[in-house]
Amino acid sequence: MTSSLLSPVSVAGLKLANRLVMAPMTRFRSPGGVPTAAVADYYRRRAENGIGLIVTEGTLVGHPTASHETTVPRMTAGAAEAGWQQVTGAVHAAGGRIATQLWHLGSERSPVDGIEAWTPSGVGGHPMTTAEIDVIVAAFGEAARVAARAGFDAVEIHAAHGYLLDEFLWPSTNHRTDAFGGSPARRAAFPAEVIRAVRGELPVIVRFSQFKERDYDARIASSPAELEQILTVLADAGADVFHASQRRFWEPAFPGSPLNLAGWARELTGRPAITVGSVTLTRDVPRLDRLLAGLADGEYDLVALGRILLGNPAWGRLLTEGRLSEVRDFEKSHEDVYH
Ligand SMILES: Cc1cc2nc3c(=O)[nH]c(=O)nc-3n(C[C@H](O)[C@H](O)[C@H](O)COP(=O)(O)O)c2cc1C
Repeated sequence: MTSSLLSPVSVAGLKLANRLVMAPMTRFRSPGGVPTAAVADYYRRRAENGIGLIVTEGTLVGHPTASHETTVPRMTAGAAEAGWQQVTGAVHAAGGRIATQLWHLGSERSPVDGIEAWTPSGVGGHPMTTAEIDVIVAAFGEAARVAARAGFDAVEIHAAHGYLLDEFLWPSTNHRTDAFGGSPARRAAFPAEVIRAVRGELPVIVRFSQFKERDYDARIASSPAELEQILTVLADAGADVFHASQRRFWEPAFPGSPLNLAGWARELTGRPAITVGSVTLTRDVPRLDRLLAGLADGEYDLVALGRILLGNPAWGRLLTEGRLSEVRDFEKSHEDVYH
């Protein structure tokens, strides 16, 4: 019954063993921004247990405004690059593929160390000048070059959940009147510049969402037509795959159609799409029928799992071997374990 989840697929030139993706999850295990051997073991364990594509935790681009966090990994030359080389080598040796999620926190950066957050229009920090926009675009480009050298198979641009790129997409935080604000298409101009700066190095996945960490009801697009304006700009800039972040994958993105957000991204752009959001948190995989129907209908191509993989590194193998009864249901405490 789950064979469609386990069938090989080629997406954006990437040959994947199956449709399963590990969703990006921040774990705070990289002191000084450098991933350790434990980080390599953690990702290798998911790859050798049947996750076709891993997306790393959010990884900071090399600019001081990206984040105040010291144990979130960075994508910078030197020690971090060498650490990532160990990670990609371990995943590849296990037969897996791995993308890195490139991240700038925007207004969510704490000024704890005296550095002010950068934002589109001053909501929660300093309003970026066009020169500062160029600096951050260049930082993403440099991070993609480091990722390519470190052996990654793809990059994922984090344009979701209310961080910097999403703050440009969201009208509540983008009040600019220059080329980077106004219509949905113009709000997408900065994320599009970032995509242009990273493309050519590696296939580009773009993660976006309607909801924000601080506002679950927020929306970047109030209709499919508005979403089309945004995603067309991003696709034209070079987005190869869209990763549509929802809290519950089965929820329709807009009234009048059962399509979820990934389904709309695929429908509007023709690009492959990844769905995510409470795909399973328990051993019984509720809504498996809905999940498989979406794959069969071409609503999305890949399925990402987050929290269930924290306590179950071998989830992919348990699925493959028909042993889901052995899955440990997700509990909040799994966010504190690292294995
Ligand atoms: C501990 C934790 C850390 C997360 N960190 C990130 C992150 O760095 N980047 C991101 O885009 N999403 C992040 N997310 C969201 C997940 O990628 C995923 O979309 C979410 O957990 C929903 O999937 P799930 O219901 O299968 O857990 C995180 C989620 C959790 C639980």
